[in-house]
Amino acid sequence: MSFNIAIDGPAGAGKSTIAKRAAKELGFLYVDTGAMYRAIALGLLRKGTDIESEADLSESLKEIEVSLDYEDGVQQVYLNGENVSDQIRTEEVSNMASASASKPEVRAKLTELQRGIASRQSVLMDGRDIGTVILPNAQLKIYLTASVETRAQRRYQELNLKGENCSLEEIEKDIRERDFRDMNREAAPLRQAEDAVLIDSSHMTIDEVVAMIVRLTVVNRQ
Ligand code: CDP
Repeated sequence: MSFNIAIDGPAGAGKSTIAKRAAKELGFLYVDTGAMYRAIALGLLRKGTDIESEADLSESLKEIEVSLDYEDGVQQVYLNGENVSDQIRTEEVSNMASASASKPEVRAKLTELQRGIASRQSVLMDGRDIGTVILPNAQLKIYLTASVETRAQRRYQELNLKGENCSLEEIEKDIRERDFRDMNREAAPLRQAEDAVLIDSSHMTIDEVVAMIVRLTVVNRQ
């Protein structure tokens, strides 16, 4: 039987870096569901879709196909067959992903895909609604968070390293807005599952968080 780990939490809590490393140590497949929402968002941006128009959104979604594959163990995300793994990491796509992820039709498109992957193998899946909606029976659930200031600072450094021009104030504002949207939307809002372990990474290193998740997995598997 597959052992599934769900990691949820707000933007910039370090989920993807930590989840990737923990999955590697455990020999689990890492599934970044945010990348799927980002790929749909890129598709919607390219089509110039007005996501507030149900008809327009529905039409566009019919022509958007998202799939995952792994190259040397690293997740690659495809939009209609094109590898868009790098193109989905801009602030424009981040904002569209957060806005379009509030639409039930967008979420429905990815639910089956995510559950299917988890049913076939042991996965460590990260997102916003993995422990609450996608994998309610996951054997281990983590809610990973950090203060807004810490998260903004981390995102700022990440974008700077990639050479993207950005201001810390802008990023902090974006994060606050995204938190609000993710937590207050009607469809699968971001919240800690009742049976999730809370980890606040504000004052923890990546290594410390990874070690904690690995330890929790070992304990829960016994
Ligand atoms: O990397 P970051 O935490 O900023 O975002 P992400 O995990 O790549 O996800 C991008 C956006 O997709 C988020 O702002 C969420 O609104 C949305 N998302 C979601 O609604 N449900 C998920 N399971 C994963 C992402």
